[in-house]
Amino acid sequence: MEQTVTMTVNGKQVSATIDARTLLVQFIRENLQLTGTHVGCDTAQCGACTIHMNGRAGKACSMLAVQAQGADITTIEGLSADGSHPMQKAFHECHALQCGFCTPGMVMSAVQLLNDNPRPTEEQIREGLEGNICRCTGYHNIVRAVEQAAGQA
Ligand code: FES
Ligand code: FES
Repeated sequence: MEQTVTMTVNGKQVSATIDARTLLVQFIRENLQLTGTHVGCDTAQCGACTIHMNGRAGKACSMLAVQAQGADITTIEGLSADGSHPMQKAFHECHALQCGFCTPGMVMSAVQLLNDNPRPTEEQIREGLEGNICRCTGYHNIVRAVEQAAGQA
């Protein structure tokens, strides 16, 4: 069954007629060609697909695009056009990535974390990012990057 969905993505209103079973992450990547949002597991475990919906971080593989009808979505591309968001800069400067596969989702979760708690402890950072899996870095530099973005390093 086809359905028309309209939402705001990175400040622009988008509308498309899609299969009602289309996942939000598929809609973002395939219909909108915003491929910074990754798919690592498709089962809501890895966090690679994390976006912000109505100001809250969420996993775009765990909802249908039609569930985002009318929503305000921000993807990694909407955070800054050129990687200049303080969290992106901190990840770069702290070498908080290796393959980079987890990075967009990790950054989106980290931004949410600081929005909720601008001065997190290391433990709170680790807890806040526990829905995002990184197979490369060992997490240490990711934690450092979040501390730096919070002005604590
Ligand atoms: Fe969504 Fe892994 S792809 S959590
Ligand atoms: Fe490779 Fe995180 S940098 S999975």
